[in-house]
Amino acid sequence: MKVPKNLGMRQTTVIVSLFLLAFAFVISNCDTGVQTVASGEELFLSYCAICHGTDGTGGGPMTEHLKLPPADLTKIAARRAGNFNADQVYQIIDGRVPVAGHGTGDMPIWGNTLKESEKLKNEKQVRQSIDNLVEYLRSIQQ
Ligand code: HEC
Repeated sequence: MKVPKNLGMRQTTVIVSLFLLAFAFVISNCDTGVQTVASGEELFLSYCAICHGTDGTGGGPMTEHLKLPPADLTKIAARRAGNFNADQVYQIIDGRVPVAGHGTGDMPIWGNTLKESEKLKNEKQVRQSIDNLVEYLRSIQQ
């Protein structure tokens, strides 16, 4: 069998491509801490505006199909004596832990939905997405 001394152009291309593929695979799976999840505003417009309205005040197109009107999300703090409790808002959005006094079932369980719809890789990205939403909601308080 004849072993070529120098690799031809085609072999080199194949080998380089394999290396690049392996590299891309490693990068995509390691937790670099780089923020890859969508911004709070993007997430809000994709998942929440349909019920809460694009400005968050309620009255999105789904409203007529719901038992309860979607809450006005610009008044989360106003409804709680001016206090925006980020932890509580986080729990309400996540929905995987039942929140006392909340849970009519009309508000979807985003912790699960976001993970699938946004193709999030891990729990850290789910938390980051919900944190982004919470910060967006904080920014629209009136
Ligand atoms: C299918 C309609 C629907 C969608 C979509 C929806 N919500 Fe809601 N949401 C509701 C309803 C209805 C309520 C009020 C009733 C209740 O308390 O369950 C509510 C209540 C809330 C509350 C509680 C407000 C308060 O002051 O207690 C928050 C926070 C909230 N939604 C955030 C979100 C976010 C963030 C999204 C998007 C990720 C979202 N909602 C998507 C229907 C929806």
